[in-house]
Amino acid sequence: MQPLIQKYIPKTTKDVFGQDDSIKQLKNFIVNFKKEKKKSALIYGSSGTGKTSSVYTIANEIGYEVIEVNASDFRNAEQINQKVGNAIKQQSLFAKGKIILVDEIDGLSGHEDRGGIQAITKLIGDSSYPIILTATNPFDNKFSSLRSKSNLMEFKQLDYLSIFNIFKKICDNEKIKYDEEILKALSRRAGGDARAAINDLQMLAQNKKELTKESLEELAERNKTDSIMTALNKIFKTTDIKIAISAFDNVKEDLDEQLLWIDENLPKEYTKPQELAKAYEMLSKADVFKRRIKRWQHYRFLVYINALITAGIASAKNEKYKNLVQYKPTGRILKLWWANQKAAKKKEIAARIAEKTHSSKKEIIKSTMPYLPIIFKNKEMRSNIINYLNLNEEEVEWLKSQVKI
Ligand SMILES: Nc1ncnc2c1ncn2[C@@H]1O[C@H](COP(=O)(O)OP(=O)(O)OP(=O)(O)O)[C@@H](O)[C@H]1O
Ligand SMILES: [Mg+2]
Repeated sequence: MQPLIQKYIPKTTKDVFGQDDSIKQLKNFIVNFKKEKKKSALIYGSSGTGKTSSVYTIANEIGYEVIEVNASDFRNAEQINQKVGNAIKQQSLFAKGKIILVDEIDGLSGHEDRGGIQAITKLIGDSSYPIILTATNPFDNKFSSLRSKSNLMEFKQLDYLSIFNIFKKICDNEKIKYDEEILKALSRRAGGDARAAINDLQMLAQNKKELTKESLEELAERNKTDSIMTALNKIFKTTDIKIAISAFDNVKEDLDEQLLWIDENLPKEYTKPQELAKAYEMLSKADVFKRRIKRWQHYRFLVYINALITAGIASAKNEKYKNLVQYKPTGRILKLWWANQKAAKKKEIAARIAEKTHSSKKEIIKSTMPYLPIIFKNKEMRSNIINYLNLNEEEVEWLKSQVKI
């Protein structure tokens, strides 16, 4: 199957949601180019908001040809003059006009690229065609000269309703079943990035063609995994302790899980035995500290633990390993499996109650199960329930875990 993100590349400006004003502004600039004082448009905004798509769909609609050049082409002045120069000189047979698109100028960085930025600036001065630059952050100092020569147009982050409409269109077309509320919740989570949103949808719906509450949980689980992968990457791929030390700052997993993730993936990354040994030494010290905290409540040790498993492990190597490692959750966490097990316990208990009360399991899950753990808190009721429903040890444990008895 063709990936959704490919299948739903906007073909007309109507397919680009939530950017009507910016599209209008950009179209005006292109069409009235001859009258414009500034010969380029710098369109900017976060990733996945429709910048590149808008340029192509507008061009399509007004019958213009897009000549796209990469920011990296500008590293070499000769190269760029050749590429753009030729394209400009050739009269195109069918197109009514031409647009020169320099996509993602953020890529130009540091001193060695100064020539690149200069080359673009010069191009703007000479060109008899509209030049469109795109950037995610145009306010970097290095772009100041480009900014002053360009019409700035912002592509705002998409609001959740725009994402929701994109989802709806795709789901209807692909015959993916959904509940509006769930689709809305999913839209809110996309953070205004349509590309990420469509890719999430792809992952959630590719096998089952249906979006459910579980889909939301699945996504949360995956995002969590993403963040810990980034943390591992930070620690494993740097020798700079200043970078490593903050690796776990935005990670939600608790310390136990962090240790397990490192334990699982360390030997895949650190292949030199001495460095591996040194890194494990750090990990085991962290583990010792952790036990002491548990036993004696010495919470001030926590900062040492963090230092050991971030900076300590990062500095156990002399240089970073160049091989690419796919980090994996440890077999010992099995979070999803746990979640499923828990859902299964709930269903088991509901089935018992349904049998005793002659009602449906579905009804019990909806109307009784939310209250059962609370009732279970009461000691007397608890033993009655256990006897009446003949609950086994695991089921009792599950109920207890729901209210932390
Ligand atoms: N406003 C939008 N409406 C509908 N789909 C969109 C929109 N923005 C992005 N998309 C989807 O995301 C894909 C990528 O969009 P596009 O390349 O235009 O984003 P961008 O703003 O250029 O992002 P980047 O800064 O990462 O290059 C499109 O092919 C489309 O499927
Ligand atoms: Mg783009």
